[in-house]
Amino acid sequence: MSGTPEARPVSRRRLLTGGAVAAGGALAGGAAVAAAGRDGAPALTPVSTGSAVEPFHGARQAGVTTEPQAHAAFVALTLRPGVGRTELGRMLRLLTDDAARLTQGQPALADTEPELGQIPARLTVTFGFGPGLYRAAGVEDRRPGSLADLPPFKIDRLQPRWSGGDVLLQVCADDPVTVTHAQRVLIKDSRPFGTVRWVQQGFRRAAGAEPGRTQRNLFGQLDGTANPAAGAAADTVVWLPEGPPWLRDSTTLVVRRISMNLETWDLLGRPDREAAVGRRLDSGAPLTGTAEHDPPDFTATNDDGLTVMPDFSHVTRAHVTEDRLKILRRPYNYDGAPTAEGHADSGLIFASYQADIARQFLPLQRRLAERDLLNEWTTPIGSAVFAVPPGCDPGGWVGQDLLG
Ligand code: HEM
Repeated sequence: MSGTPEARPVSRRRLLTGGAVAAGGALAGGAAVAAAGRDGAPALTPVSTGSAVEPFHGARQAGVTTEPQAHAAFVALTLRPGVGRTELGRMLRLLTDDAARLTQGQPALADTEPELGQIPARLTVTFGFGPGLYRAAGVEDRRPGSLADLPPFKIDRLQPRWSGGDVLLQVCADDPVTVTHAQRVLIKDSRPFGTVRWVQQGFRRAAGAEPGRTQRNLFGQLDGTANPAAGAAADTVVWLPEGPPWLRDSTTLVVRRISMNLETWDLLGRPDREAAVGRRLDSGAPLTGTAEHDPPDFTATNDDGLTVMPDFSHVTRAHVTEDRLKILRRPYNYDGAPTAEGHADSGLIFASYQADIARQFLPLQRRLAERDLLNEWTTPIGSAVFAVPPGCDPGGWVGQDLLG
């Protein structure tokens, strides 16, 4: 019937729905019909948040240098006893297939709620491998050199319920229902192989709320200003350019759950808040500049002879100039239920990507733990590290070069 005049408008709409349709196999038709508006439902346009698609396949996994989506779930699994290399291969084949479909707006195989799989909303699923996975699979000789639990820091108040993990599933999308559905499918399919160790759900501003602007954290600060710009700099910071196939185009992820004491922060005046970070709250400009991206001048002094950028401000302590020492921060806010007395449970799911944890993350974290004005209002309560292995081509699976 596809050549009949009656069918033509649908075909045209299918064309207009773009990537999600082009990427599809047999099931993509379903996605296309949904996107085009079935049974008279409003049609999604190619620019709608819901129909936007991020590529899944490729040398590098998506969800790292991808423009951060509005919602995220970080799911850490503990492998069940007896799960080794063969079982991990089975699990990752299955989960890769789920991710390849769901990210393209197609329901997973045997999806019990196929309608929920049809709005990709830039869904990405990023797989991370904790140190325990390499032990379980008997491939410790292939573990990235810097992948080890972080040493303790004196600022830490870590809780086991937010720490560690053998496998990480980082699920991000611009729609919270899409994230929840993907999370459910992935957890369901990993159940024979692992148990859920922790789940951390986070959010940023809604997609399109402030296009092109740096996001704000729950202290009201612009957070992400000094991140390496996309392109060559970010590449050097994040990805391993060479090495054996299981390392080339991989990266590492540090996840820290950092509680933020909004109540004591509320007691501070604006100048003190700005001094703690070294940047202005409205524009995000350094205290020595006027625009967000002005470089901070750490030598400028005021009339009293003191440096304008306080010596122990967060930015002064965290600033590095060499790309090979930088990190890519991709944090999400969290906001749990307050207590009966109205005390907040808020903070940051701090997520940073770097080629090498020991070279890039550790010196920074050591400096901040040693001295950082912000420590007065922030407390790390969870910590986990993962390798993010290379991506895969169609027909392949994430982890194949390591475990296959
Ligand atoms: C709740 C905890 C934290 C908050 C609220 C926070 C907030 C901020 C803010 C507002 C900025 C300035 C704007 C920007 O460049 O993004 C910043 C910069 C930065 N932060 Fe944090 N941060 C936190 C934790 C951390 C941690 C744990 C690390 C690393 C171990 C870190 C590393 C950095 C770096 C590298 C910069 C850029 C410094 C520069 O070169 O100017 N931050 N952070």
